[in-house]
Amino acid sequence: MLGKFAATAFVAITGVSILATATTALAEAKSREEWKKEYIRPTAIPFPEENPYSAEKAELGRKLFFDHRLSGANYISCATCHNPSFSWGDGLPK
Ligand code: HEC
Repeated sequence: MLGKFAATAFVAITGVSILATATTALAEAKSREEWKKEYIRPTAIPFPEENPYSAEKAELGRKLFFDHRLSGANYISCATCHNPSFSWGDGLPK
């Protein structure tokens, strides 16, 4: 008899605490609009203060990106998979 009561009380208490946790999580959940505000694209490309942009560094990056010598086998560059004509992707379905 007491065992059945204890089991019922346990189930009830567990249920109430799950409900309380779910309600708290819902109250703290951000709306879609709030999330969007945090991920607005910057108006300019951000560069670290200690490593500002220069045309020379941009050109070096471009050369390295298309350079096959970066791969061990000497025939793969970043652009092999990040093909500019496929919107910097590999063109394969996800
Ligand atoms: C063998 C194929 C391959 C090569 C070579 C490759 N990548 Fe990737 N890269 C991928 C894949 C696959 C992903 C994941 C794409 C995704 O999540 O949809 C990725 C993701 C990335 C991302 C993250 C993109 C994002 O939107 O989060 C960056 C940055 C990146 N690669 C840069 C490079 C650079 C720089 C090089 C050359 C040094 C390079 N990759 C070479 C296949 C490659």
